[in-house]
Amino acid sequence: MLSYIIEGGRKLEGTILISGSKNASLPIIAGTILSSKITKLYHVPNIHDTQITLKILKLLGCKVKKERGKIVIDTKLMKKTEIPEDLMRQMRSTVIMAGAILGRFKEATFSYPGGCEIGARPIDLHLSAFRKLGINIEEKGGFIHCKCDKIIGTEINLDFPSVGATENIILATVLAEGITTITNAAMEPEIEDLAKFLNKMGAKIEGAGTNIIKITGVTQLKEVSYKVMPDRIEAGTYLCMVAATGGKVKLLNAEPEHITPILHKLQECGCMIETNQKVITLEAPKKLKAVDIKTMPYPGFPTDMQSIFGSMLTTAKGTSVLVENIFENRYKYTQELKKMGAKIQIEGKMAVIKGVRKLSASKVESHDLRGGAALVLAGLAGKGTTQVNHIEYIQRGYENLEEKLQTIGAKIKIKNT
Ligand code: UD1
Repeated sequence: MLSYIIEGGRKLEGTILISGSKNASLPIIAGTILSSKITKLYHVPNIHDTQITLKILKLLGCKVKKERGKIVIDTKLMKKTEIPEDLMRQMRSTVIMAGAILGRFKEATFSYPGGCEIGARPIDLHLSAFRKLGINIEEKGGFIHCKCDKIIGTEINLDFPSVGATENIILATVLAEGITTITNAAMEPEIEDLAKFLNKMGAKIEGAGTNIIKITGVTQLKEVSYKVMPDRIEAGTYLCMVAATGGKVKLLNAEPEHITPILHKLQECGCMIETNQKVITLEAPKKLKAVDIKTMPYPGFPTDMQSIFGSMLTTAKGTSVLVENIFENRYKYTQELKKMGAKIQIEGKMAVIKGVRKLSASKVESHDLRGGAALVLAGLAGKGTTQVNHIEYIQRGYENLEEKLQTIGAKIKIKNT
């Protein structure tokens, strides 16, 4: 097992370059399938989740070449339409590959996706949207087989603005016949980035970033180069890590507009924040103040930042109340924080955090990606040497986390334990 060993209690100070977005890279990599041509992608983070997605493309018959800072994907010779089960189970977002495979081949086979253990995470919205598009779905022996002669555009209203379902519908309908309209679509910036990428290839997608998206089917797409947007959750994570240690940081290649609710909450905590185009600077106060947080679909406060804030607020002055509205099982990390002396009470969707003076070091277990990062934050802010186990969860989504933290003065290393 790999663990992080963190010597906490050091003020972090310095500059961090934010990587390309994980959640934008995954659907964009899937989108390369639609072109049947060569695509060059820049700023795809080198993390476990993008590696798995690229591995699936290779197994389906695509050529993938990694060159300095860019990934060249050739999907011309792709023939297979079945996503390997073991890889599908490693990561939930593989489900969006189904939309892209269907869009190009009108057939796709996959199993139920895996991913972080943060709730039931069903795919009913994806499947009912596929059915509305005229796709036949058969479920047998844990496999889902989708097939149709053609995909015909229609109106799809999502019961909930699911990010993955919105992306899947877009990917399935770029090459469809006629017009598809998604209402109550998710508005996350990663969806806008996917649409920007597909439109550069020749797709006709309007309204991405709003709750009504219109996709007019086209017959073919062209070769493009594309630079993936900055990772807004990575940016938010480093801001909170530094804030928790009382330090000062400058983020480069960040997009302040994408993290407005995060910046506002950090200001409410007492942090001084300045933004200038793609640069964000934060200076933490001596002691953070408690704040209340409710997670919501974009542009609300992101669920992916709930655990990071939860961890940061364990040593804030006063009592903070978190309400998790998106995933039902996203408080596992709080059990681990309690081992470090945090005072947290969970009641259903709500976590009540009473700020303590300081956390103390302990051995803690990551259970999911963001919950794991929350424990790293606690280790950095706490007193003594903290061991965070099962860092493979954290490595799914953060590129060179330990190196980036070391450059701003953290004592963190990876150890085989
Ligand atoms: C994406 C993000 C994830 C983020 C989440 C919410 C990626 C790779 N992951 O996940 O980091 O936390 O958005 O911002 O982009 N739901 C259903 N039925 C469905 C689909 C979803 O009930 O068919 C429910 C889920 O269980 C969950 C909620 O809708 O409670 C939100 O899920 P969704 O927006 O689909 O999240 P993901 O796309 O999985």
